[in-house]
Amino acid sequence: MAEQNHRVQRINLTRNLTKPNAYAVALDSEFKDVAFNEERASLNKGHWRQLVFKCAEDKAVDVEIGTGAGMHFAYQAQKEKDRFIVGLELKYKPLIQSIRRVHASGQRNAAICRFHAFDLDLLFEKNEINNVFIHCPDPWTSPRKPQNRVVNRSMLNQIYDMQRPGSFLEFKTDSREYFLWAAEEIKATKYHVEFKTNNLYKDGGRYFENNFQTSFEKIFVDKGTEINFIKLIRT
Ligand SMILES: C[S@@+](CC[C@H](N)C(=O)[O-])C[C@H]1O[C@@H](n2cnc3c(N)ncnc32)[C@H](O)[C@@H]1O
Repeated sequence: MAEQNHRVQRINLTRNLTKPNAYAVALDSEFKDVAFNEERASLNKGHWRQLVFKCAEDKAVDVEIGTGAGMHFAYQAQKEKDRFIVGLELKYKPLIQSIRRVHASGQRNAAICRFHAFDLDLLFEKNEINNVFIHCPDPWTSPRKPQNRVVNRSMLNQIYDMQRPGSFLEFKTDSREYFLWAAEEIKATKYHVEFKTNNLYKDGGRYFENNFQTSFEKIFVDKGTEINFIKLIRT
């Protein structure tokens, strides 16, 4: 079992909830082998393949930050049956919806954690993960608090070291303000930019053809908001 890291996390503990709702209960009962609360999740650090997925060390383990209702999370698990995926989500309802959606499609190659993205270093060792998906994260434009944005140079540098060489990180957002800010942050990292566009639906080419649209993204597309997209390579 991995050694528990005692750094204080940024979120409340599930075990301290006075009235846990049905989703919080499901996290620690029905789904406890594949859904991890803030405390149990970090026990898997360095051991995701061995402890959770029970697969070989060379198998791919991808990460999705902020799964929401899990539409892309389940799509990815279904599309890449030979890979594994770990989701991060703060809220209980979408967290359980996400893992339920995977199981409803018959797949068992996914796990989910109630975890704050900024604590990712408590979840994964260096060189432990493969591809990373960050789709439509909260933009923190109103209120404007760029220090809360998940795609920032410090997080990217950490993720870079956690990823295995040749992996990618995909970031898309409906917020042009966030995207322009993040583009400057990305310049301060070691990532190679494979593709970048301010308008995925117009100039995305094969990246648009391969794009999976969640219902959240659809709200913005239907309003005419351009979707900003960048794919980074961990060299
Ligand atoms: C705007 S939704 C997008 C959901 C999904 N990725 C999509 O594109 O449809 C962002 C999600 O990220 C979650 N989230 C926000 N901040 C987070 C954090 N720091 N760590 C993990 N999840 C977070 C929210 O609870 C929410 O479900």
